[in-house]
Amino acid sequence: MRRIAVLTSGGDAPGMNACIRSVVRYAIYCGMSVYGVDRGFNGLVNDNLQLMERRSVSDIIQRGGTILKTARCMEFLTEEGQKEAARVLREHDIQGVVVIGGDGSFRGARDLAQNCGVPVIGVPGTIDNDLNYTDYTIGFDTAVNTVLSAINNLRDTMTSHDRVSIIEVMGRNCGDIAMYAGLAGGCEYMLVPEVEPDYQALAHKLNQSNRKGKTSDIILVAEGVGTADMVKEKLEGLTDVSFRTTVLGHIQRGGMPTMQDRVLASRLGVKAVDLLKKGIVNRAVGIRQNEVIDVDLTDALTAEKNFDYSLYNVANVLSL
Ligand code: F6P
Repeated sequence: MRRIAVLTSGGDAPGMNACIRSVVRYAIYCGMSVYGVDRGFNGLVNDNLQLMERRSVSDIIQRGGTILKTARCMEFLTEEGQKEAARVLREHDIQGVVVIGGDGSFRGARDLAQNCGVPVIGVPGTIDNDLNYTDYTIGFDTAVNTVLSAINNLRDTMTSHDRVSIIEVMGRNCGDIAMYAGLAGGCEYMLVPEVEPDYQALAHKLNQSNRKGKTSDIILVAEGVGTADMVKEKLEGLTDVSFRTTVLGHIQRGGMPTMQDRVLASRLGVKAVDLLKKGIVNRAVGIRQNEVIDVDLTDALTAEKNFDYSLYNVANVLSL
């Protein structure tokens, strides 16, 4: 392949820029031309592409967000929209597209490949860590560290006031942000969608530890379970503990990517270009046991959930 394109789609994630940089620089190193697509699939449908140079991606490895911007494109959900995108790509003589994003973006990439014959490679970029074929997605590590820093701040004030903090974190239907941040932050309780919450038991534990003189705790709630306010309502009638809720929201999506995310993004970007260069297409790249891997794009979307129950148990045992 001589000409490829790269786009970011869906919710942004810290490390997307590091991945764009990797795709652009490695493609140029391999003698390819690379086009940046503006605002995800929108840019394909509306013919908004620009040729990237090595310098186009200078000074971005440390920046959150995405210089290419991102969007959710309704038009692209239709076959006409996808055909228009394919036509634009043909017009520019672009032979392959690297799509950086989450499962919605992967579905878009799969449709472009299946319905229009456009060769694609998916790179997992989402804070949610909910693409099950890969151990980690780009942005997850940074988001967990952002949550950790919030936990540290909240711990200080909650301890001073003998309060229990209920913190709502993102992740869609995946509990990984809550589980990893909870374990690393020493949180007392983690509510994740993969495990049915038992509010009676939770209230009982809170009352017990309160009686023993432990007057401050942190409960992390993954958004897939419900809101922090919902959890507070459920617990309030069952305990006389004083709660405060915090919704971290989009703070988790921004910020300077961690070393882990920058390195992961760089490795996956290189792998994506390597596959296109070899004509191996319609794959999703990822990481398993620190090895860069690639799997069929459709299999990537149907891979079984790999929530780490043993790590969740460790987190619970250590928080008792
Ligand atoms: O998929 C990333 C994510 O941040 C989820 O954790 C969250 O549920 C969703 O996107 C929020 O989407 P939006 O930015 O459209 O509010």
